[in-house]
Amino acid sequence: MSHLFLKNTENITIVGAGNMGSSLLEGLLTKQYPSEKITITDVSVEKLNQIKKRFNVNTTTNNLDATEKSDIIIFAIKPQIFSKIALELSVSIQQKKPLVISIAAGITVSSIQNWLGGEIPIIRSMPNTPALIGCGATALFANDYITQKQRHLAETILRAVGITLWLDEEKLIDAVTALSGSGPAYFFLIIEALQQAGERLGLSKEFSRLLTLQTAYGAARMALESEKSITELRKAVTSPGGTTEQGIKILEEANIREIMAKATLAAKKRAEELGS
Ligand SMILES: NC(=O)c1ccc[n+]([C@@H]2O[C@H](COP(=O)([O-])OP(=O)(O)OC[C@H]3O[C@@H](n4cnc5c(N)ncnc54)[C@H](OP(=O)(O)O)[C@@H]3O)[C@@H](O)[C@H]2O)c1
Repeated sequence: MSHLFLKNTENITIVGAGNMGSSLLEGLLTKQYPSEKITITDVSVEKLNQIKKRFNVNTTTNNLDATEKSDIIIFAIKPQIFSKIALELSVSIQQKKPLVISIAAGITVSSIQNWLGGEIPIIRSMPNTPALIGCGATALFANDYITQKQRHLAETILRAVGITLWLDEEKLIDAVTALSGSGPAYFFLIIEALQQAGERLGLSKEFSRLLTLQTAYGAARMALESEKSITELRKAVTSPGGTTEQGIKILEEANIREIMAKATLAAKKRAEELGS
């Protein structure tokens, strides 16, 4: 992917140097994006000084100054302050019509379009927390003003922190939020429960923790790397009359599939409520 970046050395501004903004910055630099082409903004001078010292990118507390020179603007700020910042930048964005990428949860393309004044190429994305360690899963949705080149650029930028998938319909972002957005917490809960179950079987806390985590990691890696389906992989571990079969039987009887369906449905409903 880095060869794409070397050809496309657009000026990028990341608005908001928090968890996600800093992770995207780090991801871009890891993928060899030229540091002099990146500007990151924040309200905290201290945060920006630390970033400047560590990464040698351009930093400023002035969003307008930064975005005026930008071909790509990534909004990595909290949803609550999005409208205020977008309205402040709308005149400048209308003049240059840069590619706008939003990672803000629940903020629709039409809201961003309204704040910025219309006819702006906008990509709405939904990353998840593992993006903080370069292992994220990000869904992307593009509005009608996006060119093929901009699609490519946005994808390459978000790929710096994990995998990316394109959505044809914006409303599917709520489903993505419920699945991969909230998903890390579901897995943390399962990991917690499995670890505690191991302790109840007499294993030390540390042993139980390590065995649970390595098993989760190993299972995910096997599933990602294997040619076989998840069902085939599960069946391969579940020999008839064996130990796993007994464990799986309890989980199926407790209707784990229905529980996961209900959990994601509740999360999706909440995402819809927050977005409206
Ligand atoms: N974290 C995740 O896992 C995740 C996943 C998916 C989507 N998202 C989305 O990503 C966005 C950022 O999340 P985050 O976790 O990175 O939040 P965050 O850590 O709070 O980062 C936002 C940063 O923007 C700064 N900021 C506030 N006002 C600003 C302004 N006027 N101009 C420039 N910067 C300003 C904040 O400073 P202060 O802290 O001083 O206010 C903070 O450093 C959110 O919209 C969230 O919905 C996050």
